[in-house]
Amino acid sequence: MTDLKTDLQLCRMTIQLRNRFARLIAFLSWIKKAKTVDHLDSPYLFNFYKNVVVKKSDDSNINNIELLRSKYLQDNTLINVTDYGAGSSFQQGALRSIKQIACTAVSSKAKCNLLYNLVQFYKVTDILELGTSLGISGLYLQAGNLNAKVTSVEGDPALFEITKRNDQFWAKNLQLINSKFDSFLEDHRSLNSKYDLVFIDGGHTSDQLLPILKNLDHVITSSTILIIDDIYWSKDMKDTWHKIKSDGKYNVAIDLWYFGILCSEAQIKEPIDICLSPLSKRWKPGLFR
Ligand SMILES: C[S@@+](CC[C@H](N)C(=O)[O-])C[C@H]1O[C@@H](n2cnc3c(N)ncnc32)[C@H](O)[C@@H]1O
Repeated sequence: MTDLKTDLQLCRMTIQLRNRFARLIAFLSWIKKAKTVDHLDSPYLFNFYKNVVVKKSDDSNINNIELLRSKYLQDNTLINVTDYGAGSSFQQGALRSIKQIACTAVSSKAKCNLLYNLVQFYKVTDILELGTSLGISGLYLQAGNLNAKVTSVEGDPALFEITKRNDQFWAKNLQLINSKFDSFLEDHRSLNSKYDLVFIDGGHTSDQLLPILKNLDHVITSSTILIIDDIYWSKDMKDTWHKIKSDGKYNVAIDLWYFGILCSEAQIKEPIDICLSPLSKRWKPGLFR
């Protein structure tokens, strides 16, 4: 029994190491391909770059969210987590501390900052987040527009209970729902509510993501902004991202490494398909240009 346990642990560690190496290679090739402000001649992309990719905010609500993150990062309370497949990095029924979840499953400050900027750039007012976890990214989405209605869905009952206790009084339009994504989307079939931005941060395999996208059809419109998290999580996710962006439904596909953004913009005549990086390439003449 102990031997089997050790073998499983070794196997898991090997897979993790292999994944990390593959991600490093993918990142280097992404950096080589990615454009920065020096390469952009489209006014749309130039504005996007200035207002989303590199903009830093001094919003006091963001400071409050980061205080909450620090609180989570010191919390050793153990909870039983549910396994929702790739990307969750947890085993079924495994006990995890809040601290571990805050470290591994929650979006970084840089990533959350992009979400905040996206809400402001696209002036969205009805937002859906699939994958709440501890609610950090949901709070950033709400901070981007305090008047926007943000609905965030989490399947794990234990996480949901912890997250519900957040008392960020300013985030009064953030509604947390405890449901599996498919049941939530199924239940909303008849409601006719449409979202203008959807952030998919759960279900990091083609088997999970493609059905989610199909189920989303009745809650989005042709102008909804789609944000797909962790498009470089695995080769499968990378291939799925390529497949989704090439199906002709969207004329703008922006790859920010952390996530991919898809939308249809009437003013864009030539389809955009680009990787954008905040890192200046001026300091690497010849190597990464
Ligand atoms: C990466 S975490 C979300 C992180 C969060 N958006 C943040 O950055 O602060 C993904 C969450 O989605 C939930 N999840 C994954 N697949 C799900 C599904 N099919 N139904 C409901 N919840 C799911 C997991 O329980 C997990 O808490």
